[in-house]
Amino acid sequence: MAEILKVMTISGSLRKKSIHTALAQHLMKSHYQHCEFLSFEINTLPLFNEDLEQDGYPTPVARWQQSCREVDALIFLTPEYNQGIPGTLKNAIDWLSRPYGSEQYRKLSIGVINGVPGQLPGRYAAANLLHSLSQLSDRVFEQPLLLTQIYNIFEDAEPTSTTADLIKIWTLSFLRFTETMRANV
Ligand SMILES: Cc1cc2nc3c(=O)[nH]c(=O)nc-3n(C[C@H](O)[C@H](O)[C@H](O)COP(=O)(O)O)c2cc1C
Repeated sequence: MAEILKVMTISGSLRKKSIHTALAQHLMKSHYQHCEFLSFEINTLPLFNEDLEQDGYPTPVARWQQSCREVDALIFLTPEYNQGIPGTLKNAIDWLSRPYGSEQYRKLSIGVINGVPGQLPGRYAAANLLHSLSQLSDRVFEQPLLLTQIYNIFEDAEPTSTTADLIKIWTLSFLRFTETMRANV
């Protein structure tokens, strides 16, 4: 029997009515064969500061790092802020990059979802994020899911069928990538 793939979703938006968090919650509720979704809330992480490393990592950071060691894949859902990614998300990635040179997440598959309110796909956040993530892992899924007009993609707290289809197609392809990578050890 195929082993379960554990996939952790991380939303880069902290606001209560975040579309990206709603998309992460939609993934958590979706059913994909041999796949379990988990989530991590990065608002618990302190701002990165090398001084905080001196006496061992602060508890939320240790939890974040440990959680990433226990899964096969991460999906980052990032808004675009000022043509980049939210500082909260960059902060979470900076903590994962420590201790310097440990290379412990190189086999983690990582995917990226970005939505923008406009009619054209976002050009910056996903590209910035993929660039930073390539520092962490050799298994970054280079094709992000780019959603547009995100204030119209939910109806009654569920994604419209078109959006749900797009998410499903992308997720299946990301899971296949993760499985292939895992088989390569
Ligand atoms: C500080 C800030 C900067 C933003 N910059 C951009 C931007 O550069 N490009 C863009 O398409 N949208 C930008 N937006 C709009 C966000 O894409 C939009 O607020 C989105 O809904 C945020 O995701 P969320 O619903 O998950 O919070 C910005 C929003 C904020 C709050």
